[in-house]
Amino acid sequence: MDTRTLYNQWSATYDKVENKTRDLEGEAGQKILSSISFENVLELGCGTGKNTEWLSQKAKHLLAVDLSEEMMAKAKEKVSTPNVRFQQADITQPWSFTKEKFDLVTCSLILEHIEDLNFIFEQASSVLQSGGHFYICELHPYKQYSGSKARFETNEGLQVLECFMHHASDYFNAAMKNVLTCECLDEWFDKNDRSKPPRLISFLFRKK
Ligand SMILES: C[S@@+](CC[C@H](N)C(=O)[O-])C[C@H]1O[C@@H](n2cnc3c(N)ncnc32)[C@H](O)[C@@H]1O
Repeated sequence: MDTRTLYNQWSATYDKVENKTRDLEGEAGQKILSSISFENVLELGCGTGKNTEWLSQKAKHLLAVDLSEEMMAKAKEKVSTPNVRFQQADITQPWSFTKEKFDLVTCSLILEHIEDLNFIFEQASSVLQSGGHFYICELHPYKQYSGSKARFETNEGLQVLECFMHHASDYFNAAMKNVLTCECLDEWFDKNDRSKPPRLISFLFRKK
């Protein structure tokens, strides 16, 4: 089954079941983004709105996009303030869903489903104002090397989504090609236990 169909299915339980990756990313995002100021935000892959709520309280305007209408329906139940607009879109296609410029683009736990990182960096760079930030937090490459993939249980059994491997250097090289410099690279560990491999990797890039 394709990514959209599977996320439509997962939407029923995404917020309810234990998910260390989801929860750790929520903490990481708030820590990193609390240190910068922003007004006009594009949230890629908003899902059920885990981060949309927090971002909507900090931003003047927020455009939240997602491929899955069912995931986004959950987000709409959480966030209904007039400064937030939701748009169903596939970010692997040219970003015709906006003509605006943003001072922050966020991307949490979505790039493992996208093969061509360069396309995403190219589009993100084109919608960012000069000086704007691009925040990314994804499953750490170490986790990917050991076989971790987005997955969820259904009555019919375990569903595993299509995932693509991204090495740390892939993010850096895509950023460099698209006039983005890295201001911050972090690794995030379960219970902050640095004796074990990290769960997540995050980047804060900035457009020159
Ligand atoms: C693991 S969820 C993460 C949701 C949210 N960002 C979070 O941190 O909880 C991944 C989300 O990316 C969306 N997604 C996957 N591929 C996409 C694409 N090509 N375009 C837009 N959204 C996509 C899925 O529909 C899903 O809602």
